[in-house]
This record gives sequence, structure tokens and C-alpha cells, in this order.
Amino acid sequence: MIIAIDGPAASGKGTLAKRLAAHYGRPHLDTGLLYRGVARVLLDRGEPLDDPALAAAVAGALDMGALDESRLRGREMGEAASLVSAFPAVRGALLDLQRRFAGQPGGAVLDGRDIGSVVCPDAHAKLFVTASPEERAARRHRELASRGDPTPYEAVLADIRRRDERDSTRSTAPLVVPPGGRVLDTTALDPDGAFAAAVALVDASL
Ligand code: C5P
Repeated sequence: MIIAIDGPAASGKGTLAKRLAAHYGRPHLDTGLLYRGVARVLLDRGEPLDDPALAAAVAGALDMGALDESRLRGREMGEAASLVSAFPAVRGALLDLQRRFAGQPGGAVLDGRDIGSVVCPDAHAKLFVTASPEERAARRHRELASRGDPTPYEAVLADIRRRDERDSTRSTAPLVVPPGGRVLDTTALDPDGAFAAAVALVDASL
């Protein structure tokens, strides 16, 4: 059983994916971490983010087990990941790894931007999790504030709009509702409400 979860930045898809994975007893892969990992390696080496061949070489050699989540979160890394993720060669280099994860016996839950459309087009259940940009910015702003990051709400909203724009207009694997995808708008839902709605949609897809 493969569950594909896609959606824009700060839509809550990561939290939902984790809870669904626990609920259905499957392993979970947050594919955003792979793109963040590529950007992290380039930044650590002092190399530019705008060289597709360089970024693809890093992606091809990425060791999923070595990703240190604590160094991959944060605004700058999301922005950097969005830049390298627009290169087709980077996406291609990460495809095998994602498909191997999805292909484990018993299946898996993967979340990202192109899971239902490109990585696992034959997934058993596909959710497209979204919320209004203002609501997503408010959630991200609260989360940053709780971690002591004083970024103002307007700056968070501008970030989110810029990432939405870049992720939806790139030519390779843009953010789209995949064929067969069920849209879950969480604007008016709390985390438990969103989880209950997601389980209902997944159960209805199986
Ligand atoms: O989901 P997260 O915010 O961690 O993703 C960071 C960036 O990585 C996104 O803005 C997007 O550009 C890219 N990404 C992607 N495809 C995925 C997952 C993430 O292009 N499957």
C-alpha cells in the first residue's frame, strides 16, 4: 500500500504524513528532506546553488541515512531546496531512491510535491493537502516564533507565496493535484480534524 501526499509549503502535509504512517503501520519518507539535503551539502562545501550539474552530482551521491534533520529545517534551507529542486537532473537523480523506498514490501507513505504525479503515479491513495496562503503563513509563523525565530508574519507570507510560485511554475514536476488525487483543504481544520479527514479519504481510496 503506497500513500502519496503532496501539497504546498506549510500545508501541514508532513505532520499528516507522519500520523498516517503510524496509523497504517508503514514507513514514512519526507522527500523535502532530500532536496534540503542536497542544498545543505552544497552550502557546507561553499559551492553555488545554481549549477545544475554540480547539484545533480550531489543528489546522485546523497546518503539518505546520513541526513541530519536538525540542520535541514529552517527558512533558508527551504528556500535553497526550492532552488536546487527546479533542476531536472537533480529530480532525476533522486527518483530511484524515492521509488526504492516506496517499493518496500508492505508499501510506504511519502510526502512531497510530485509523489502522486511523478514518483508514485500508481499509488493506492493520493492526497493533495492544502490551505490558504494566509493560514499556512500563520501556522509557519507560530511555529517559527515558538522556536525563537522573530521573522514577521508578512515576511513568512512573502516566502510562502514565492515558494508556491516557483514550485508550481517550474517546467519539471510542478506542484499539481495529481490525476486521481483527492484534495484536502485544511484551512478551517485543526490537526485532529485534518487527520480524521485524511484517514477517511485514504480509506475511501483503498
Ligand atoms: O516540503 P519542504 O518544504 O521540505 O520542501 C522544500 C522544497 O523542496 C520545496 O519548496 C520544493 O521546492 C522541493 N521539493 C520538491 N519535490 C518534493 C519535495 C520537496 O520539489 N517531492
